[in-house]
Amino acid sequence: MDAFWHFAKRMTRYRRLMIFGGLCALISAGGMGAGIIAIKPVLDTVLEPGHQGLPQIVSEWNTAEDGFLTGRISQSFIDGLPTGAFVAVAWMMGVLGILTLIGSLANFLHQYCALTIVHRTIAMIRREAYDRVLHLPLKTVVEEGPSDAISRVVNDTEMLGIGFVAMLSKAIAQVTKGLAALIAAFFIHWQLALIAIVVMPLLAVIIRRLGKRILRASTGALTARAGLFRAATEALQGLRVVKVHTTERYEAGRFGKINKELLHQQLKIRTARALASPLVELMTVFTLGGLMVLAAKLILDGNLDKSVFFSTLTALGIAAASIKPLTGLLNDMQASRAAAERIGRLIGQETEPGHDAALPKLTRHHERLVFENVSVTYPGQTRPAIDDISLTIRHGETVAFVGPNGCGKTTLLSLVPRLFDPDIGRLLVDDSDIAKVRVRSLRRQIGVVTQEVVLFKGSIRENIAYGSPNATDKDIAEAARRARAEGFIAEMPQGFDTPVGEQGLTLSGGQRQRIAIARAILRDPEILILDEATSMVDSESEEHIGAVLKDFCLKRTTLIVAHRLRTVLSADRIVVMNAGRVVDTGTHDELLERCQLYRQLAAGHLAGLGSDAGVDTRLDQH
Ligand SMILES: Nc1ncnc2c1ncn2[C@@H]1O[C@H](COP(=O)(O)OP(=O)(O)OP(=O)(O)O)[C@@H](O)[C@H]1O
Ligand SMILES: [Mg+2]
Repeated sequence: MDAFWHFAKRMTRYRRLMIFGGLCALISAGGMGAGIIAIKPVLDTVLEPGHQGLPQIVSEWNTAEDGFLTGRISQSFIDGLPTGAFVAVAWMMGVLGILTLIGSLANFLHQYCALTIVHRTIAMIRREAYDRVLHLPLKTVVEEGPSDAISRVVNDTEMLGIGFVAMLSKAIAQVTKGLAALIAAFFIHWQLALIAIVVMPLLAVIIRRLGKRILRASTGALTARAGLFRAATEALQGLRVVKVHTTERYEAGRFGKINKELLHQQLKIRTARALASPLVELMTVFTLGGLMVLAAKLILDGNLDKSVFFSTLTALGIAAASIKPLTGLLNDMQASRAAAERIGRLIGQETEPGHDAALPKLTRHHERLVFENVSVTYPGQTRPAIDDISLTIRHGETVAFVGPNGCGKTTLLSLVPRLFDPDIGRLLVDDSDIAKVRVRSLRRQIGVVTQEVVLFKGSIRENIAYGSPNATDKDIAEAARRARAEGFIAEMPQGFDTPVGEQGLTLSGGQRQRIAIARAILRDPEILILDEATSMVDSESEEHIGAVLKDFCLKRTTLIVAHRLRTVLSADRIVVMNAGRVVDTGTHDELLERCQLYRQLAAGHLAGLGSDAGVDTRLDQH
């Protein structure tokens, strides 16, 4: 089914409001139709010399050949009506006034209901889309870029809402009004009205053609808008880099290019949109003009009443005026169809596996962590990032992973919290395959600190407690103390309540890392993953943190990627990796003796230590 209708169907959740709103639209249109029908008797009364007023009008209805009211009105009722042309007009206007009042109220209620339904439904869809994004596999988001997803959740839902408003609020009002006017026209003089509607099919063809064009260009425009979003976010998030590299012009150019594409697509829509209204106008004017000529002929031949002519034309004119905005509204709906398709594709994407409530939970890790012949090849790559690695790690063991850049350390450790699945092989925690348990129960047992610390806008306290909603202030302070973060936090103007800027930009790299370590400590994980967790911490603090972590890691399985020898030395076992494979494992001394690569790595490090007092003692500079 068309994505637009798929989402539009969500509005039926508010069925009662919809029915009430629809009724109101009908009442509003009916009021207008009655008004149109009343034009003829008013004209008759005023134009006809010696008109008796209400009694004459009503008895004409009573004696009409095949009218709805023929013979239904009692003579005594007619005799009781006030006479006089002016009184009749005043009465009719009074009744019309009341009808208009009711019509306006109904119109208000219709719009009110329609907007309520649309905004509530869109809020629901937005929420659903966002939920979906959060549950997408990491791989999908990394590949397609987060800004595209953000754009779909924020911009495209807005666009969809515009289409819904066009449909439910404006289009329905216009259609019911147009129909009421048409019915009134038929009521007054059906032959003339029939001629007028022969142009309808032609109108439909025009609208369809324009609509198709708009749909196509709208898809392009939405994609371009997502691109704008991406370019702007990237540049502004990396504003430091942009400024230092003086690439403002380059960035402006990049933005400009996408901006031009958006403009191009919008200009395509412009032609179609701009054409819609004049085309319809032209057609209606010509039709009405033709009818005028025809009617003039009939009047001159004495075959048509002047009042009938006027009121039919008025009715048809109103019908045409109601149909005219319809083209624009249909175009709005076309544009929102493009948005619906983009959101539909996002929501239709497969979510991350492992969230099925039927899956068993992983019990608290207490035995071992096993990598069983795992291999990972990133999409689009020919060489595997991880190539058939098997490794068994005892509970409570601290294992350090060393190796040159790009050898696959981060990739290997990302398999543990199941950020993605290996292509071949499996991971076992205490003999349970992690692909067969609830992923939440696995991740709850894992604490991760990486080089790129992600902090959220909020206070330092909130950032430390992120993911541990039940932590007390005391727990938080204790975790901060153990991560050696209490010192700098105490110096902050508001201590733990000091707000952290977006992405934690108001803190230094080392401070951010220490907050991340406190966050991991607070979670009290069974498995701790430290991927260059202390790379930005100064060496004195690192020594402190190292001591703390040593104590903290004692009864936990700890996987460390480190570039500093000191950290590596504290591990129970060292795994040397190269090009996606494990080259050797053992203790520092064993490896020094037998592993060439390790000797190289350590030698590079030791040289660094000698020249630079250990401030930057990176293992993998070779
Ligand atoms: N999202 C990705 N898409 C494609 N290839 C990737 C992706 N992430 C990593 N790679 C590739 O996989 C290989 C292993 O990367 P990984 O990040 O695991 O290395 P690493 O050992 O952690 O390196 P470093 O010491 O620099 O942190 C690299 O060759 C890298 O180019
Ligand atoms: Mg890495």
